[in-house]
Amino acid sequence: MTTMSWRKRSRGAIAPVALAAAVSLVLAACGGDDDGGDGEAAEELPTGDASGEFEFFSWWTGGGDSEGKEALLELYQDQYPDVEVVDAAVAGGAGTNAQAVLASRLGSGEPPDSYQRHAGAELLSDIQDDFVEDLTWLFEEEGWMEVYPEALLEQITVEDAIYSVPVNIHRSNLIWWNPAVLEEAGIDGPPGSWDEFLTQAEALEEAGKTALTVGPLWTQQHLLENVLLGELGPDVYAGLWTGETDWESQEVIAALDMFTQVLEHSNIGQAAADWQPAIDPIVDGDAAYNVMGDWAWAYFETVQGLTFEEGYDVTESPGSEGVFNWLSDSFTLPVDAPHRDNAIRWLQLAGSQEGQDTFNPVKGSIPARNDPDESLYTGYFEEPLQDWNDDGVDKVGSLAHGTVADNAWKGEIDSALQEFVGSGDSAAFASAVAQAYENTRQE
Ligand code: GAL
Repeated sequence: MTTMSWRKRSRGAIAPVALAAAVSLVLAACGGDDDGGDGEAAEELPTGDASGEFEFFSWWTGGGDSEGKEALLELYQDQYPDVEVVDAAVAGGAGTNAQAVLASRLGSGEPPDSYQRHAGAELLSDIQDDFVEDLTWLFEEEGWMEVYPEALLEQITVEDAIYSVPVNIHRSNLIWWNPAVLEEAGIDGPPGSWDEFLTQAEALEEAGKTALTVGPLWTQQHLLENVLLGELGPDVYAGLWTGETDWESQEVIAALDMFTQVLEHSNIGQAAADWQPAIDPIVDGDAAYNVMGDWAWAYFETVQGLTFEEGYDVTESPGSEGVFNWLSDSFTLPVDAPHRDNAIRWLQLAGSQEGQDTFNPVKGSIPARNDPDESLYTGYFEEPLQDWNDDGVDKVGSLAHGTVADNAWKGEIDSALQEFVGSGDSAAFASAVAQAYENTRQE
């Protein structure tokens, strides 16, 4: 995996300062505060009967997002029948709305008992602000240091401490399609490069089909990261998030121009309100392609009842064969969680083999642990499971899903992207992103 390390340079910011070629992304914040605010909290597993409430906060509401969550919450309820589970989900794919609600709750000292965050850079500001407890003791107590892959543990370690429990690994760099639509347009298979996509798009449009669908801004960012990955390759792509790759270089500008060309063959003018309705035209046979993470599997299979390789198909997004663009959903223990013991019970379940093997085959992801019951991961799942565990497959992190850019920088990228999709001005976007990187390192 890409190696990135993070240093706290001054109050309020954690900045990436180094990139090496090999093993993993290391999040290391150094500096004064290192206890995550857990000074008084007992580092002990709860004992006795569980009762009272458990409020779980996530953005898993719509079809394809909520089924995995429900399976895990049901298992929790079975194990702790006297606990009242409060499912406090805020609708909006990728957490776009949930993150704002969460920020306000954390800021006003009203945390839920556990909340969802992407593992990686997205959690850094919570750690910096002492919003989350250090969970290293739980990892040790539960033996998780031995069953989570070493590289993943390094990725979620910040100054020798771990602050969230990853429940899965999702893959971002996927292109989904309707085989019947390709056939109708006389196309043999998915494009191997974005150039080839442009050629295919013309044939699709001639056949009266939309070549590519998109949804709200975050799905456009999801597309952008995978166009950049396909055009630049894993090393240059990884360097975008560490300062190593010059955003204003010719190579990056050309990749950004490609993104604009790709969007010209999309339905961005009628962009859907979220990722599920962006997939519907594929299901209905009106459009060919959508670039989305593998939560889309749950939508195609479970919600739409289609069969893999017949009703829908999927492969790596153009130009990213042999690369795994990853992200992970993880759960936290907020400082001052009102029902802390019940939250710890939830985290124990989310980190357990049973919990992950209950959640992931429904959610469309693979377990974050390295000891899954492989018989549960057939069909689509075989490839990600194999690729994730294959050192020959390059691992890079997702921008749209919190792996590589901290919240301050990502917020600036979001705003710049909104302008960029309107203007198509690659140079202005590249300069805004590069400038924002510098600015958010300094404060
Ligand atoms: C991602 C998240 C996935 C899925 C998706 C769509 O950010 O990691 O689990 O929920 O958003 O909402």
